[in-house]
Amino acid sequence: MIELLPFTPEIEERTRPIYERAKAVIPAAEWPLYAPFVDAINRLKRERNAVILAHNYQTPEIFHGVADIVGDSLQLAREAQRAEADVIVVCGVHFMGETAKILNPNRRVIVPDAQAGCSLAESITAADVRALRAQYPGVPIVTYVNTSADVKAESDICCTSSNALRVVESLGVPRVIMIPDEFLAHYVASQTSVEIISWKGHCEVHERFRAIDVERLREGEDGLLVIAHPECPPDVIAAADFAGSTSAMIDFVRDRAPQRVVLLTECSMSDNVATQFDNVEFVRPCNLCPHMKRNTLPKILRALETLQDEILVEESVRVRALAAVERMMAIA
Ligand code: 13P
Ligand code: SF4
Repeated sequence: MIELLPFTPEIEERTRPIYERAKAVIPAAEWPLYAPFVDAINRLKRERNAVILAHNYQTPEIFHGVADIVGDSLQLAREAQRAEADVIVVCGVHFMGETAKILNPNRRVIVPDAQAGCSLAESITAADVRALRAQYPGVPIVTYVNTSADVKAESDICCTSSNALRVVESLGVPRVIMIPDEFLAHYVASQTSVEIISWKGHCEVHERFRAIDVERLREGEDGLLVIAHPECPPDVIAAADFAGSTSAMIDFVRDRAPQRVVLLTECSMSDNVATQFDNVEFVRPCNLCPHMKRNTLPKILRALETLQDEILVEESVRVRALAAVERMMAIA
């Protein structure tokens, strides 16, 4: 059942500046449903001394309405490290909440829905990593942040999609194991002479894009810029004009200022970016991440009221995972 809160003239007045920023991507008919939650969340956030970190894949009413910090996985990890609030609310998926907790053991880290998982994080366990280490003695293990704290704890260093190449090359070795995203590993391998041993994990959202989709999009569309996330299959990346993390996509659109662009990534990305670029048309084939979409305004309000779902990471795991995350942060 959809929860509703009354949309009063006072709430309309208080939330007007927020709506002005987001009106290009939030229909006027929907704002009366969102505004009371936005208002209540922003009030409670101050009372709790909480900060809300939201990934670029959050819906516009979260991204524009209540987030204090938005960004890609690396930016959110950095901001989590700098957080001075008593409570950190992570609107993303479970592994992002764990990363925030790994970096902030003395703060309360909560997520609106602890069931928000990730197909990449679920593709590998700590026992799998130990088996890889036994199979390839001495080969460093580079682990994508889209993994559980247990998996990070077994790793030498973490990476995100925006720093993966830099991290791999920083190690100064001829061979690395890169887990768990096979496509990200393939993309990095295409740009370096370091040999990459990969794992068979895939993002269930990005693996659905096809090179034929890119061909069809380009038909009769001179000048369409196609940008793919590195979690896409290799033939999709090859057919695109550029591949990069969600924040690299934004920078690329800013630099190239195309008339029309398509972002081959999660659906909310175009909505969130579009508000920054009035003169760019975003063509919108996209795939929805069901995990990211578990986050809603009513759940964020409940999380702030109850301070649940709390993320906890066992201390012996946390300190080992922290070493891998901090090693990454020192590089990029
Ligand atoms: P980035 O925002 O780091 O590009 O990650 C994308 C992603 O799929 C996060 O779940
Ligand atoms: Fe995981 Fe893919 Fe969803 Fe990101 S978009 S959280 S990688 S399933």
